[in-house]
Amino acid sequence: MKGKYAGAGVGGADVWGHLTADQLNHLTDIGQQLFMARFTVEDGAGRPGATQAIVPTKRKHPVLNEFSRTAGIDANACSSCHNLPFPGGAGDFTTNVFVSEGFESADFDTTDPQFSDERGTNSLFGDGLLELLAREMTTDLQKERGDAIALAAQTGEPQRVALETKGVKYGWITAQPDGLVDMRELDGIDMDLVIRPFSQKGVMTSLRQFTVNALNQHHGMEPVERFGGRWTGTTDFDEDGHPDEVSDGDVSALVAWQATLPAPVQKVPDDPKWRQMAKSFSPVLAAPPATWKACRSTASPSPIRDRRTWRGR
Ligand code: HEC
Repeated sequence: MKGKYAGAGVGGADVWGHLTADQLNHLTDIGQQLFMARFTVEDGAGRPGATQAIVPTKRKHPVLNEFSRTAGIDANACSSCHNLPFPGGAGDFTTNVFVSEGFESADFDTTDPQFSDERGTNSLFGDGLLELLAREMTTDLQKERGDAIALAAQTGEPQRVALETKGVKYGWITAQPDGLVDMRELDGIDMDLVIRPFSQKGVMTSLRQFTVNALNQHHGMEPVERFGGRWTGTTDFDEDGHPDEVSDGDVSALVAWQATLPAPVQKVPDDPKWRQMAKSFSPVLAAPPATWKACRSTASPSPIRDRRTWRGR
């Protein structure tokens, strides 16, 4: 990004490999600034030539009104929506968004419920832990598949195994001695056995993937790592005259800040009357299961297939 946050990309890009606490603090500071930054046309906000689709997709028809609920810009900052009770939090009804993630390469944007879902803005507090939990579960499930394939090959017998991790069951797979895996009995998970904890539908794998989507969808700020010349053949995919709008370092900073937001906790009121009432509220985030490993480190992009480009799947 240019202007006031010009150092951000450089700062993020400088931070490479295993981070010290100081480097992480530096990166999260930049991430917070970017999360609250109000993107302007000078930064490259707006996407006259591109839709919100997660696979870079050109518009079939030119956009009539660039500031609308679908056209990106629908807000100037991430924190325009994620702001309750403070930046990184949830959002009011007025911040609802029209997403068309089922149509990942649609060449139009619309609020028509046939093609888009209206969703409320959720809180990002605790999402870093959620992603780590999902990665652990994915690793478990993929190991169960690997073990089943190995055992089938060793014994010459098909192996039907229940997929389960941290007390959650995902149906069965049957591995054949020749390595073929029958997935027809899977339940509640994609064929690649990747847990996708994000969005209300649970279809996004990582904060990084979501952040890249959001930058394009809401702000028309296209990250190089998905919309850049390497993937699309142009540095200005959205045709607004601003090349290479968001660097890999900018995205890393945004992810680092979100990933380190603390998990919400329940405050129990002293007054028994209020305590009784609080019992009827459902917690924002279920308490982390006791089975979590003591995760002290993370990586971005995720070691789990992150679909950074969403091309060639
Ligand atoms: C116009 C309002 C709006 C803006 C601006 C916005 N978001 Fe969101 N955000 C949402 C909504 C609505 C959802 C829920 C989407 C869904 O369920 O499909 C969401 C979900 C998310 C999630 C997934 C959280 C989870 O636990 O599932 C992440 C991460 C996220 N946003 C990050 C960002 C970032 C980073 C930015 C800025 C680049 C941003 N958002 C800008 C409204 C917004």
